[in-house]
Amino acid sequence: MQRLQDRVAVITGAGSGIGLATARRFAQEGAKVVAVDLDEVAGAKAADEVGGLFVQADVSVEDDVVRMFRTAHDTFGSVDIAFNNAGISPPEDDSILTTGVDAWRRVQEVNLTSVYYCCKHVIPYMRRQGKGSIINTASFVAVMGSATSQISYTASKGGVLAMTRELGVQFAREGIRVNALCPGPVDTPLLQELFAKDPERAQRRLVHIPIGRFARAEEMAAAVAFLASDDASFITASEFLVDGGISSAYVTPL
Ligand SMILES: NC(=O)c1ccc[n+]([C@@H]2O[C@H](COP(=O)([O-])OP(=O)(O)OC[C@H]3O[C@@H](n4cnc5c(N)ncnc54)[C@H](O)[C@@H]3O)[C@@H](O)[C@H]2O)c1
Repeated sequence: MQRLQDRVAVITGAGSGIGLATARRFAQEGAKVVAVDLDEVAGAKAADEVGGLFVQADVSVEDDVVRMFRTAHDTFGSVDIAFNNAGISPPEDDSILTTGVDAWRRVQEVNLTSVYYCCKHVIPYMRRQGKGSIINTASFVAVMGSATSQISYTASKGGVLAMTRELGVQFAREGIRVNALCPGPVDTPLLQELFAKDPERAQRRLVHIPIGRFARAEEMAAAVAFLASDDASFITASEFLVDGGISSAYVTPL
């Protein structure tokens, strides 16, 4: 499929996981990829692999965000797709009883304020073009509670979801669609390492997933490519759950 032929797509967190899988999928579908990451080595490697442009940026710094969209526009002439995906989930962010304000603030800056900067600075390009698709990465934890808390992470993703809904509604008549991708747990190296050490911890989570396994990053990329494309032309302001059914489950199959 070549649904994204010649569209210019900016992807944050393109050096790893969901961002990397999406960079590959976007390129396969014909997009010109601008791969953004804090990590210079991983980001440049991703851009190289997909024949795209690498921009090193910290999405929690407003000037960096302004620069990355300007670079994309100056190089390719438009910004058609913004996949605002970079995020962190550090171990210091845990129960509200033990999480300090510095950890709280850092997660809010990288996961939520960054999405505010990205939307604020890409929407003017899209308004001038009269079209655009924005996908912000939230999470299933934006719609469900967890007894194994990461309090700032959860609150940040709730913020991403609410902000996305509002922007989708506000700009709907200007040809700009804004959707939130809400992934379930994705089988990333981080998750694998965590659960290799503690199989009981993995089992405690797997039991809630009707499909019975974690997602692959490529399954997220497929959903993002759909949302970015004209196949999703009537989808905006949505809470797009790609979660293996977790958020609908009470009792799961044995
Ligand atoms: N993996 C999961 O199970 C899961 C589930 C739900 C939501 N998510 C969300 O999906 C998104 C991607 O997660 P992933 O699992 O692919 O993570 P990942 O750690 O594999 O990749 C994240 C990338 O973002 C980059 N990054 C981190 N901070 C940055 C910053 N300040 N500026 C620019 N780049 C930065 C990292 O260098 C890394 O390359 C995140 O927003 C995450 O919260 C992940």
